[in-house]
Amino acid sequence: METASSTSTLSERADALEKQLSDELDRFIPVRSNLYTSGERDPRLPLEIKSDAPEYKGKRFNMGHDPRLPKMPDKPTLLDFFELRMAPATHLLQSATHALKAGCDEKIIMACLVHDIAVSMFIRGDHGYWGAQLLEPYVPEEVSWAIRAHQVLRFYPDEQYGYKYPDLYVKFFGPDYTPEPYIQRAYPKIRNHKWYETARLITVNDIYSFDPNMSVSLDPFRDIVARNFRQPEEGLGWDDSPSSHMWRTINWPTRFL
Ligand SMILES: [Fe+2]
Ligand SMILES: [Fe+2]
Repeated sequence: METASSTSTLSERADALEKQLSDELDRFIPVRSNLYTSGERDPRLPLEIKSDAPEYKGKRFNMGHDPRLPKMPDKPTLLDFFELRMAPATHLLQSATHALKAGCDEKIIMACLVHDIAVSMFIRGDHGYWGAQLLEPYVPEEVSWAIRAHQVLRFYPDEQYGYKYPDLYVKFFGPDYTPEPYIQRAYPKIRNHKWYETARLITVNDIYSFDPNMSVSLDPFRDIVARNFRQPEEGLGWDDSPSSHMWRTINWPTRFL
């Protein structure tokens, strides 16, 4: 016959089981890709994580959401990535606000809004190329072309547009920095392209946009994004576009595979 004390023990056991289950859900091993640590450590070294190490006993490798990050909705939109992976995205919002105030064409405002998306949430080096590739399936061709081209144009002044070689680059990279040959090869092609001005305007709106006193918000851009970004019904990352894997990696950056 069950006594009061054994009932309580049962209930305690149920609680403990529930806690164990919830701990289980939290017990995972996030794995940083070699790219994240390359340089800080030699990427040729064996994986940092030894799956049979005692501290990992009973744990699983993460194959989905990393609980340390804000959770994305099931069908993430571009604005969800802004809010949950890039906020406050000050540089992007300031650039786009600058373009908006200058009365630029909507495509240029859109391009300014996302021009450094790769720096903000993905990979810095060659960020114009990565950013263009991420966006290509979803934006007008002119926008992704210009984002790729801004990678190159930021190193080349154009007085006609009031764009000087940035003082910041002299400070950051030294006065004798010269762009790599692939940038030098790309420049004349971009300079003579029909969409040169679009890419140039990204650099023009970029350079003046580090203003700590300017208050910015995503709100003025929601309609522009709706008109210039083809949000996939399935959500970014789940839509089988040529770049959806990149969006998935940003959403779930520490998946084992
Ligand atoms: Fe940039
Ligand atoms: Fe920028």
